[in-house]
Amino acid sequence: MKLERSFVMIKPDGVKRGLIGEIINRFERKGYIIKDLKMMTIPETLAEKHYQEHQQKPFFNELIQYITSGPVVAMILEGENCISGVRTIVGSTDPTKAAPGTIRADYATNIRYNVIHASDSPESAQREIDLFFK
Ligand code: PPS
Repeated sequence: MKLERSFVMIKPDGVKRGLIGEIINRFERKGYIIKDLKMMTIPETLAEKHYQEHQQKPFFNELIQYITSGPVVAMILEGENCISGVRTIVGSTDPTKAAPGTIRADYATNIRYNVIHASDSPESAQREIDLFFK
């Protein structure tokens, strides 16, 4: 059994649209445990650290502007194979390519306003948990 922790963030569009309960419900129904959770507006410096690997991308400034534009809900989820399991529930980054029934397929239409972020590896999970919760 591989007990893992993942960092998950409901993005400003998800919060504004009243999707917090719906999204958390999906993770809890799956059996993941919420180890910590907070609502916050991300300062620009933290947003830039969180997305540092995308610094050279043409969409970086828009991404930072959007993610700092309103409150997000940040959480640590724990469970067996939680990192890949959460990504499966979340769906592909581009909602037009996300599998039916995933959060992004069900609630998003746009790669920028895609409702939710989830860690993509054990290394990024640890880095993101440290950034947001330590
Ligand atoms: S890449 O280029 O494949 O590395 O990017 P990707 O992993 O698909 O996406 C990384 C995050 O950037 C967001 N993104 C965008 N934001 C604004 N505009 C555009 N065009 C855009 N494309 C991608 C995307 O939602 C990812 O956010 P996270 O929070 O990691 O899901």
